Order: sequence, then C-alpha cells, then structure tokens
Amino acid sequence: MSTHIGARPGDIAEIVLLPGDPLRAKWVADNFLTRVNCYSGVRNMFGFTGIAPNGKRVSVQGAGMGQASLSIYVNELVDEYGVKKIIRVGSTGGIRADVQLRDIIIAMGSCSDSGMNLRRFPLGTTFAPIANPELFIKACEIAKNMNISVKIGNVLATDLFYDKTNAHKVFAKYGVLSIEMETSEFYTLAAEKGFKALTLLTVSDSLVKRQKSLSSDEREKSFTDMMKIALELVD
Ligand code: HPA
Repeated sequence: MSTHIGARPGDIAEIVLLPGDPLRAKWVADNFLTRVNCYSGVRNMFGFTGIAPNGKRVSVQGAGMGQASLSIYVNELVDEYGVKKIIRVGSTGGIRADVQLRDIIIAMGSCSDSGMNLRRFPLGTTFAPIANPELFIKACEIAKNMNISVKIGNVLATDLFYDKTNAHKVFAKYGVLSIEMETSEFYTLAAEKGFKALTLLTVSDSLVKRQKSLSSDEREKSFTDMMKIALELVD
C-alpha cells in the first residue's frame, strides 16, 4: 500500500476515473462496472476496480476536494501503482452567463489562483496546464457521436471555495467558462509525470445568475451523460 491508498500492487487498473467524492466513486462502481473490488477504504477515500461496459478493466478513485488533496492521490496512483491515464469526473460552477446548469464541460486548459506552480516554475514565469490532446479530441468526438452536447474551453482552479475577491469575474472576461478546485494541479502533474489527463465536468451551480438548483434526478442525468463519455475513453 502507499501512504494514502490501501491497494496492493496490481489492484489498480492503468486507467482511472477520478471523482472528488468517494461516494461518487462507489456510485460509479455500483452503476457502471461489473466484478467490482474495493481496493482501498483508507480515510473513507474509496477506490474500486471493475470491468467497464466495453469489457476493459478500469478503476475509480475518490480524490477529495482541492488541488492539495487531488495531488496526493494522483502522485500515488502514478508513482506507486503505475497508472497511465486519468479522467477526472467532477462538478463545477459556471462563471459566464452562457454556461448553464447541467452543461458538460471538457476542460482544454486550466488557470489557477494557487501558489502551487509558483513553487515549481522560475520566479516571474507561469505554466499553462493543458489536457492531453489525444484524450481531449477523442472526448469531443465521443460526445458528438453520442449526441451529448458539451462546452469546451478553459476553466479556473481555485484554492478558495469561499473567495471574497470576485477574481473569477476577470477570468470570465477572458473566456474562462467555470470554476472548480483541481484541474490546474491535475494537468501540471500530467506534464511532470507523463501520464494522460483529461477533466470532464458537469455544471452544478452558477456564480453569475440565480438559477433554479438542480433536483437530484437532474444532477444524476447530467452526471450520467458525463460518465458515458468517460467510460468510452477507457481502452
Ligand atoms: N467554486 C469552486 N468549486 C466548485 C464550485 C464553485 O462554485 N462548484 C463546484 N465546484
């Protein structure tokens, strides 16, 4: 086992679906996978391995909220368990009026207000974290073929869920679609370590306009559409 994941070598597949919520990981395993094995319950941050509808072996691992938490799980998945491809399946808040609740976003790249990359790169420089191009193009094609409408573009990874500065409004003016808390670190780690990364998001709330909040059925429907795209990327 690694420090935060209680799996044995070989328990985790080379491709991992990565929700923030460990109970979402269980929901994915229960609803989409067969022959499921729960390989870790350390800190209740569950991880499962099973067989996807297309017959391929896949794991689904909770990663928690925020870049610090995601970074721990991704480091261990890649360095200690040899994971090669990770699809983040998460939720996000729209920061532009043209982003609606239930929309699915495929994140091309991620901005951030985090100090993490200030520690990695020379003073005065910035790094532009981007999705794996091959996975990104494939996800767009899958969505089109399945008639699932998606928005594609930049997102903003914040360290502050309760941010009083309204910084997201500046990013929205530069075309950034939505805010979440993980993708900048996720895509930066992919560049650092050489695994393939893609973030898929469903819009669960809006910072721009008051929109009727989603019923659990509506939330589940958009999450299911996002999962259909993610599961087609398992190969
Ligand atoms: N802010 C940050 N992260 C989020 C949000 C939000 O409004 N919604 C979903 N993830």
